[in-house]
Amino acid sequence: MPYSAASHRYTEMEYRQCGRSGLKLPLISLGLWHNFGDNKPIDNCRAMLRHAFDHGITHFDLANNYGPPPGSAEQQFGRILKQDFLPYRDEMIISSKAGYTMWEGPYGDWGSKKYLIASLNQSLKRIGVDYVDIFYHHRPDPQTPLEETMAALDLIVRQGKALYVGISNYPAETAQEAIRILEQLGTPCLIHQPKYSMLERTPEEGLLDLLEEEGVGSIAYSPLAGGILTDRYLNGIPADSRAAGNPSLPPERLTSAVLAKVKKLNDLAFARGQKLSQMSLAWLLRHDRITSVLIGASRISQIDDALGMMEKRDFNQDELKAIELILEDSI
Ligand SMILES: NC(=O)c1ccc[n+]([C@@H]2O[C@H](COP(=O)([O-])OP(=O)(O)OC[C@H]3O[C@@H](n4cnc5c(N)ncnc54)[C@H](OP(=O)(O)O)[C@@H]3O)[C@@H](O)[C@H]2O)c1
Repeated sequence: MPYSAASHRYTEMEYRQCGRSGLKLPLISLGLWHNFGDNKPIDNCRAMLRHAFDHGITHFDLANNYGPPPGSAEQQFGRILKQDFLPYRDEMIISSKAGYTMWEGPYGDWGSKKYLIASLNQSLKRIGVDYVDIFYHHRPDPQTPLEETMAALDLIVRQGKALYVGISNYPAETAQEAIRILEQLGTPCLIHQPKYSMLERTPEEGLLDLLEEEGVGSIAYSPLAGGILTDRYLNGIPADSRAAGNPSLPPERLTSAVLAKVKKLNDLAFARGQKLSQMSLAWLLRHDRITSVLIGASRISQIDDALGMMEKRDFNQDELKAIELILEDSI
């Protein structure tokens, strides 16, 4: 069936200014790390992308290595973009990244100018677009001078191959330096993409303060800790779940201590009248300094759960305290 986007697509979503830039991102963005590679049926990928876009999710996050195999998520997204979304390209924010191993030899990894330029050229071909909206350096490179990596990002913007640039997985100190170099080059750092959830709070140790001060946006990846911060694992490991077959979520992470916390958090979410997945996302978005939460999904119902979070985003002091006590293992 040819796709025509829902006419109500901008009625329920909220959009936040990304740092001090002019770009707004939806509170919920969709990542294509898992569930969009060649190993997944294209019909489900297409249905999830259509559903997300029909509900105001305008931002879709990719990377050169997403799949499996690496590159196939960009290809799959490109096929669907061509068939369904080309008339809506100007309503979409498409991001990609380079920084992890992509091809053999010394030029297919980390942060050299050679790698970043070549990788983005490949990504553009796979996706079938002339430019991406945001291009990230995916992780810091201890061997390449930061000046070289940032100059490559600046060049990419000047070449028109990305509109904005960002960094991901950079600790606060390196992020500060990268932001400073980009500013000097005249290409401001739009956004940082850290791993951030109730179970991964390192960004609170200086990074989020820095980004706020510098006017850089932040998009929290793995906000559900890969599915742990949902009701998915409360009664064992379902056969079709990430923990059942994906090395990124080894079942060993589901210890009895973690599951005990998740159960308590789940009870608290229930008392608030929402699902744990919804409370986990709302908790991150309670501060304006988080521009967007970058979720993953294997099915439409999970996107609907995230959208349902929009109905209850506020927390009272007792609830926030209870969450802290649960996370600290104090109750
Ligand atoms: N910059 C980086 O280094 C980096 C690294 C990782 C990820 N990312 C980005 O962040 C995106 C999201 O990462 P993520 O997939 O780890 O995020 P996540 O939102 O923490 O986890 C998504 C997984 O949680 C489960 N889930 C989601 N909603 C659910 C619900 N309502 N009920 C039950 N289970 C639910 C699903 O697992 P099942 O598949 O088991 O159904 C889903 O695949 C990626 O796609 C990528 O764009 C970036």
